[in-house]
Amino acid sequence: MPSTVIVGTQWGDEGKGKVTDFLAERAGVVVRYQGGNNAGHTVVVGEEEFRLRLVPSGILYPEKLCLLGNGMVIDPEALVSELSELEGRGVSTANLRISDRAHLILPYHKRLDELEERGRGAGKIGTTGRGIGPAYNDKSARIGIRMADLLDPAEFHEKLAANVELKNHYLKQVFGADGFSAAAIEEEVLALAEKFKGRITDTSVVLHEALRAGKKVLFEGAQGTFLDLDHGTYPFVTSSHPTAGGACIGAGVGPTAIDKVIGVVKAYTTRVGAGPFPTELKDATGDRLRERGHEFGTVTGRPRRCGWLDAVVVRYAVRVSGLTGIAITKLDVLDGLATVKICTGYRIKGEVTQHFPASLKAVEAAEPVYEELPGWSESISDATKLADLPANARRYLDRIAELAGVPIILVSVGQRRRQTLILDELF
Ligand code: IMP
Repeated sequence: MPSTVIVGTQWGDEGKGKVTDFLAERAGVVVRYQGGNNAGHTVVVGEEEFRLRLVPSGILYPEKLCLLGNGMVIDPEALVSELSELEGRGVSTANLRISDRAHLILPYHKRLDELEERGRGAGKIGTTGRGIGPAYNDKSARIGIRMADLLDPAEFHEKLAANVELKNHYLKQVFGADGFSAAAIEEEVLALAEKFKGRITDTSVVLHEALRAGKKVLFEGAQGTFLDLDHGTYPFVTSSHPTAGGACIGAGVGPTAIDKVIGVVKAYTTRVGAGPFPTELKDATGDRLRERGHEFGTVTGRPRRCGWLDAVVVRYAVRVSGLTGIAITKLDVLDGLATVKICTGYRIKGEVTQHFPASLKAVEAAEPVYEELPGWSESISDATKLADLPANARRYLDRIAELAGVPIILVSVGQRRRQTLILDELF
């Protein structure tokens, strides 16, 4: 029953798409367990680039079973458009199944995301505007509409009517905004559902059967540890659980089904949206990382904030997700820097701590304690094994592993599949 969870250790955008794609080659089943189309996983195959939002990266291998788990929130419009884009590019989506317990993102969720965000003013979260938070709100308020409801039009009709009435009241009273027509949403969503309802099933059962049959399962996390609703920089977080525990709840398996947890660590740190970021560089080095690393959002195109690697952040991810190994991505982006820095602790009110504080005021006040290491001038993009890397790049990696307290299993030195150095057993 070999199964592995992949999680982002930072604020998302760590390059999970590529690592997942690489591990997916060795898996039989790939499962997304949380989030929705706020994610954007970029995978490069040959000359082609795929930007996946909802569909697991395993879809690029025709024989893999791909599951959208119950922990996800799914926008039918985004799903149909992603499926038709993939099919249009010759990628078969025949092996994709959708949990009957996954929640739907409906047009009013997207409108509310936009209006609630605007209402936050200076305290805005910087959401992706995809309706993620409002859909999860409905889920926890126990009024959400699930995939299973699409298979029962009378049930869907009733739930939608009740929800639209409630939302229209809220839209009008709180925002003075126009409401929605339940009939129009019903017609639109049922027409879209025709294109995917044959895939709706109990994916937990499918997963258990696959595990019993000895298939390797890969749980593909979206976003990152610091965007986790419980463990992230609350309230500047997403509304789901990108940490490893989220895989159990969001896919319908127990912790005993998981053998390994791999954390993806970008060789530096980035963040999109608002919220504290201790190692942020608002200088030429930050701009250099952004340009060289193409650090612009896959979903929204927003420039990402960039900074040095933060070992406090990585160690936190190791702890809350029980990481068994880490995968380092985008090491090549650091090529040509005279020195590279790693934050090893925060100085807060004169005291150095190794732990990420819950209070955002404390995080904002945190002064990073840096360790400076020599950089490397050579390009490392053609490296195929660890020994090909300059000594200083290896030294940087060794120090990261030492600070994280877990081994590095893989290093990525470019977007392509071949630009990957494997250091340890992957599955
Ligand atoms: P939401 O998930 O759209 O509600 O956005 C909440 C926060 O999470 C915002 O700061 C977003 O920028 C961030 N976020 C959501 N999805 C991703 C992602 O896939 N990568 C990076 N940041 C994300």
